Amino acid sequence: MSAPAGRARRVLAATAVAVAGTLAVGMAVAAPSAAQAGPTLGQLAAAKGRYFGSATDNPTLNNSAYTAVLGSEFGQITVGNTQKWMYVEPSRGRFDYSQADQIVAFAQAHNQTVRGHTLVWHNQLPSWVNDVPAGELLGVMRNHIANVAGHYKGKVVHWDVVNEAFEENGARRQSVFQQKLGDGYIAEAFKAARAADPNAKLYYNDYNVEGINAKSDAMYNMVKSFKQQGIPIDGVGLQAHLVLGQVPSTLQQNIQRFADLGVDVAITELDIRMRTPRDAAKDAQQAADYRAVTNACLAVTRCVGITVWDFSDGHSWIPSVFPGEGAALIYDEDFAKKPSYWAVYEALGGTRTTTTTTTTTSGNNGSGCTATYRVVGQWNGGYQGEVTVRNTGSTATTGWTVKWTLAQGQTVNSLWNGTVTTNGQEVTVRNANYNGAVAPNGTTTFGFTGSSAGANPIPALTCATS
Ligand code: G3I
Repeated sequence: MSAPAGRARRVLAATAVAVAGTLAVGMAVAAPSAAQAGPTLGQLAAAKGRYFGSATDNPTLNNSAYTAVLGSEFGQITVGNTQKWMYVEPSRGRFDYSQADQIVAFAQAHNQTVRGHTLVWHNQLPSWVNDVPAGELLGVMRNHIANVAGHYKGKVVHWDVVNEAFEENGARRQSVFQQKLGDGYIAEAFKAARAADPNAKLYYNDYNVEGINAKSDAMYNMVKSFKQQGIPIDGVGLQAHLVLGQVPSTLQQNIQRFADLGVDVAITELDIRMRTPRDAAKDAQQAADYRAVTNACLAVTRCVGITVWDFSDGHSWIPSVFPGEGAALIYDEDFAKKPSYWAVYEALGGTRTTTTTTTTTSGNNGSGCTATYRVVGQWNGGYQGEVTVRNTGSTATTGWTVKWTLAQGQTVNSLWNGTVTTNGQEVTVRNANYNGAVAPNGTTTFGFTGSSAGANPIPALTCATS
């Protein structure tokens, strides 16, 4: 997807310049630059009392294009690998926080909270743990938790204390902890974590527990019994490694039943994979799926936030584990925002806006304009758009013209406060007979409805005055 996406952007920019250049002979036309204005996903989520975050891993911290997004777009970071047992206690009693500390420092430098991941898990467990005699393993587990949660005390807001302890049928997974310590090891892990960091929220985290099923029932029964016994559990993490078109219909109901037990719920590892390559229809389905997950979380007060399992399709675990699948995230490999990004953005209350700073100047009257395009709303197969024309010149305009190129499947059907002509994919909107005069720094707005198939992208615009 990366090469075509990059090519498309270059073609769009070149087209915009060409269109602008034909608007009025003799005008000097600055190259348009489309910029995304407005809040980030982290800011939108915060306005709703939630967080929106991403997992990350150490190698990617050297990629400045990556860290530019990671550091600005998200309010929360999960340490994707390097807080796991094999990294922080590679041999018995020897603790190494060098890599995880880098991620925590990055988060702190960018005012991001950190979810700790994960204290007790059967995977990425160094082999020495399997060889610990049964009589010593509880002490080893407690020591591990005391050290790791102690090291990050005050720096981690949530800990995934125990990860993936159930099988699909709801039975306990036969990990070394289960086999040598029995059912009680999970409660012991939570008690040790509370002692090490009394202020961190303590989570049980698992996958395939997003809907109501045998596995989430087992998790539910465990949380219920922990609450009855006073075992310190504060939340459950629904990982949400989902498949295109298969968001469980019981997701919201499931979140609600855990909230009703008196624990918080977090979507901790969201990604929605598809057969690659992407196409417009798959992107649209994925956007609908991301929207559904976001809406389900927002519908339950105790659903405290959403974390994507890294944010770019170029940095996802999916292709290496599910050959032929991928494209599961909200940015593409070139860090361009996908329809799934915009679905989350809108579900969190954001309005898509782009400003095209095409400025035209005329030797005659010194006028110029910018045009700002915003998607007021969109629905299955259609959308409402709005463009604001601002006079950036020093004298009043007598008229203005805005042009853009429709994407495949996009149309403009009905337009008000302007006169529209279309020629193939090219749209030209001129002022109506009552709104051609715009004072310096003044604005006028026209609106329209249209159809859209797939992504409904924001176009680059050109604006010219007369
Ligand atoms: O660090 C080595 C590197 O030196 C080596 O060259 C390379 C060759 O394969 O492997 C690297 O280690 C890999 C590690 O990720 C770091 O990239 C491991 O092979 C690989 O197995 C490991 O995968 C991680 C996986 O957990 C392990 O189960 C993924 O990155 C990580 O995203 C994934 O995360 C889990 C969550 O912790 C729990 N929920 C499911 C989720 C997805 O599987």
